[in-house]
Amino acid sequence: MRILVLGGTVFFGRAVARQALAAGHDVTCAARGTSGDPVDGARFVMIDRSDPDGLGAIEGTFDAVVDVARKPSHVRHAVAALAGRVGHYTFVSSCSAYADAATPDQTVATGPVLPAAEPGFDDPAASPEAYGRCKVTCEELVREAFADVFVNRAGLIVGPEDPTGRFDYWVARHARGGEILAPGDPGERVQYVDVRDLADWTVRAAEESLTGTFDGIGTPITRREFHAGLQAGLGGGGTLTWVSQDFLTAHDVVAWSGPRSLPLWLPLPEYAGFLTRDTTPSLAAGLRTRPLGETAADTLAAFSDTRHITGLTEEEEVALLREWHAQ
Ligand SMILES: NC(=O)c1ccc[n+]([C@@H]2O[C@H](COP(=O)([O-])OP(=O)(O)OC[C@H]3O[C@@H](n4cnc5c(N)ncnc54)[C@H](OP(=O)(O)O)[C@@H]3O)[C@@H](O)[C@H]2O)c1
Repeated sequence: MRILVLGGTVFFGRAVARQALAAGHDVTCAARGTSGDPVDGARFVMIDRSDPDGLGAIEGTFDAVVDVARKPSHVRHAVAALAGRVGHYTFVSSCSAYADAATPDQTVATGPVLPAAEPGFDDPAASPEAYGRCKVTCEELVREAFADVFVNRAGLIVGPEDPTGRFDYWVARHARGGEILAPGDPGERVQYVDVRDLADWTVRAAEESLTGTFDGIGTPITRREFHAGLQAGLGGGGTLTWVSQDFLTAHDVVAWSGPRSLPLWLPLPEYAGFLTRDTTPSLAAGLRTRPLGETAADTLAAFSDTRHITGLTEEEEVALLREWHAQ
């Protein structure tokens, strides 16, 4: 197949291109080339999606397209430029498109989505809700333009080359060992997908002409299972100290990502539905997931000297644990 990746210079787009090449496809990646390089073996076409005429360098027809856009204008320009020239179209959306982050075990069918962005609004970085609303608009634009559309609402994507540093925090932390501050309760659930598993499913979806809207995320696991999986994959000999949400909040620990954060930790009950989606339909439609230990080991092996890790510093973690024990 001739596959066009709109993107392909960073993390997921690169993983899709790599997977499509491994499956024997002819792959073209189209981007500005400012975020990184396409993978070896892919053709690269320089485009600028912020310009309505900026996709002119993409020539010919494609059996399948994979689009990772966040801005409605980028999708609008792409669907106009590619009209009549593409077959299957995967739009990589996000679970941030959902309106209800609190209710656990929602499916695509039961979970309401946010309203589309206001006409002309085009700034997904303005807020988490703006990002979700822009994704909803992008989804609608693609569905209106093409018949064979696979909307893949990705959840937390992890694994080698992840630029966010969130999952990497836990990989690095378990690799270091010692006493590890584990947030919340061991029975709470988390959810993620290995970038290579999501890429594999995306390529097979194009091959099999899968259409419809699905969540691109694995089955939820407990925090206890999450840490056990990391330890199994990394051979770490660390010990976990579970620290309550109330303590973390009272000590200004930040949720999810960023300085002084504990990545993948979210306040409950407000976010009880964010990492607990029921992905039975996705698994039935072909999503396959590898063991967490494999993801962790491969992520560690891919660490570079310039890797970006977000989360608590070692000093902050030691100080918090000291205070926790003192109480
Ligand atoms: N990471 C997560 O945990 C997570 C969770 C849920 C959903 N998602 C979704 O999953 C996808 C991840 O994609 P990704 O890892 O490939 O990263 P990304 O940061 O979304 O990549 C954006 C791609 O688009 C290109 N691009 C940006 N502006 C452009 C422009 N004006 N013209 C042409 N190309 C442009 C970039 O390349 P250049 O800069 O080189 O042009 C890059 O290749 C996204 O759709 C994201 O919303 C991610």
